[in-house]
Parts: sequence; C-alpha cells; structure tokens
Amino acid sequence: MIPTVEWKKGVVSMLDQTKLPSETVYQECKDYETVARGIKELWVRGAPAIGVSAAMGLALGARQVNEKTYEKFWKKFEAICEVMAATRPTAVNLFWAINRIKKLVQNNKDKDLDTIRQMLVDESQHMLEEDIVTNKSIGRYGASFVEDGDTIITHCNAGSIATAGYGTAEGVMRAAVEQKKKIHVYVDETRPVLQGARLTAWELMEEKIPCTLITDNMAGHFMYHDMIDLAIVGADRIANNGDVANKIGTYSLAVLCKEHGIPFYVAAPISTIDFNTESGAFIPIEERDPREVTHILGKLPVAPDGVKAANPAFDVTPARYVTAVITEKGAFHPKDVHKLADSSTDPEPYRIR
Ligand code: MRU
Repeated sequence: MIPTVEWKKGVVSMLDQTKLPSETVYQECKDYETVARGIKELWVRGAPAIGVSAAMGLALGARQVNEKTYEKFWKKFEAICEVMAATRPTAVNLFWAINRIKKLVQNNKDKDLDTIRQMLVDESQHMLEEDIVTNKSIGRYGASFVEDGDTIITHCNAGSIATAGYGTAEGVMRAAVEQKKKIHVYVDETRPVLQGARLTAWELMEEKIPCTLITDNMAGHFMYHDMIDLAIVGADRIANNGDVANKIGTYSLAVLCKEHGIPFYVAAPISTIDFNTESGAFIPIEERDPREVTHILGKLPVAPDGVKAANPAFDVTPARYVTAVITEKGAFHPKDVHKLADSSTDPEPYRIR
C-alpha cells in the first residue's frame, strides 16, 4: 500500500493523485495554505483522505501562528480552519476532521500553546491510524456480502489512496480477496476526472485484483447480460435518512442496479454520515470547472470551443436504491444509519426490510 498522506518532521507529504497513473509524485507541503491548495486541486481526494489531510494541514497551521496568548492564537487558528473548510464542500469528512481538531484545541485551552501544537500533530497521526483500522473493519463486514466468483462493479475511487490506507469500497474487495474469494471488478472510468480509470484500475492492478475498465455508459450493457453480481461504491456524505452523495454517476449506476435486481452497497466510515443533514436534498454539491468536461484532463478539447458545460462533481442516490451501508460497526439498512449517531451504543446491524 502506497502512502496517501504523511506527516514528516513538520512537512505534510501528499501523493499527487493528479499525476497518477503515469507518475508517482509526492508534494511536500510546508504550510497549511499548500495543504488547502492540494485538497482543492485534487492532489489528495476521496472523503477520508481529505479529512486526514485537513487535520495535518491544521497541525501545520497551528505551528504557523506565532502568538503568545491562547485568545490571539485561537482567533488566527479559527481563520485557518475557515480556509481549510472552504476547499471542497461535499465530503463531510473535511468538516468532521476540522471540528475534531477545533474541539481538541478548545478543550485544552489551559495548556501552553506548544503543548497544543504538538497535540494537533499527534491527533492527526492518530486520525490516520484510526482510518486504516476503520477501513479494515469495513472490509471485513463488507466481504461477507461478496461470494467466491462474484463480479463487482464500482464507480470512482474509494481505494487505499482515497483514504489513509486500505480503502472503503476497495477495502471490501481487498478483504474478500484476503479471504481467498476470487472476484472480478468492472471499473467505471468515472468521467470527467477519470478517478476510475486513472486510480481504481491502477490500484487494483497493483494489488493483482482482476479488473476490466469500462466507460460509465457501458454499465447497463454488462448488467443486461447478467455479468454483474453486485455494486460497491464509497460515499462523500450520507444524510441522516440514508441518502448518499458520491461521485457524479453513482445515482445512474444505483438506478441501473435496481432495475436489474443487483445489490448496491455503499462502504463508508461513520465519519461520512452527516447526522445533522436531514436528507440528500440538503447536501451541498460541488460544481467544478466546466473545462473538466470540455477537455480531457484539462488538455485535449473534446467539445466545440465556447460550448456551455455543467460539471456537478457529485450526485445524490436516494436511500431506496441502497441495499446496505457498510460501516466499521457493521452493515446497516440505509434507513437505520441515523441510529449510529449515538456513539455510546452499538445498534443492531443489517436487516433487509
Ligand atoms: O472528487 P473526489 O475524487 O474527491 O470524489 C471521491 C469520491 O466520490 C469517492 O467515491 C468518495 O470520496 C469515497 S472515498 C473512500
């Protein structure tokens, strides 16, 4: 497993995923501004990876605030948190991570500032390690839905590099393979940024998991011909009612699955569930540069010059299309995810209604 993001002696080292699969380049971020830029420009992407990177960015930011009193420090630190929060609007792990770091600072206001600064470094490292443990647990629960010989379809990249390591949707595939199940994965290329083609296909090949790359509009064809057993995708934000925001095109895939009676699983950590957002209708959807649509990877034009193009980066799959949400605490019917809000209890897992 190649590291997604690391804290290296006061530098946040980030795998630049825009360069994959042709080059493996790490960007060395020496300040929070560069981390924020890296999140915005997709050097690092994928909800859990964004969360961990933001936490490391805030740890850098705290070191950049050269104040002597807590009150002055806090004022500047809050402004840094706002810069980080403005990077990408949809993946809730970003805001989850920022809030966790902010709370840590507030709960330790009586400590000296250097102690607080070190606590942020330790906490971001802890979040990284915790994410890998979480993903392995998601993988174990999810693998129980995968049978030997299954063909899986996936969309976007919810692999090791979309997280701190191991992956969510891809973690399920990895765990199934670790259990000696033979699987084959159909990978949607995921227009317009091609996370499927550039990242998922690359990761699966590195892991020697058999896969076939398809364009997004081919999924229905393979389902019609009975070639897909189940779909597994990640998520950027799951609303309290079980609606799922994930990479644009996920909704179409889920509708196709329903039509063909194919189970549609969402693998995501509890940190991706936004208990404060009632339904998918309230999830902010990032609108990205139309150039991503009119040009392949920002370079080769594939549309007439000056054409109007829309580019919502995510869509919402209503809960009724989701067979189960697979979390680190087990798999749940999407209508039951709200029960996970109370972290002190372990709700009863998966039941098909
Ligand atoms: O725009 P991206 O590449 O950040 O979008 C990523 C996705 O939509 C992933 O499917 C999601 O974040 C899950 S990652 C484990």
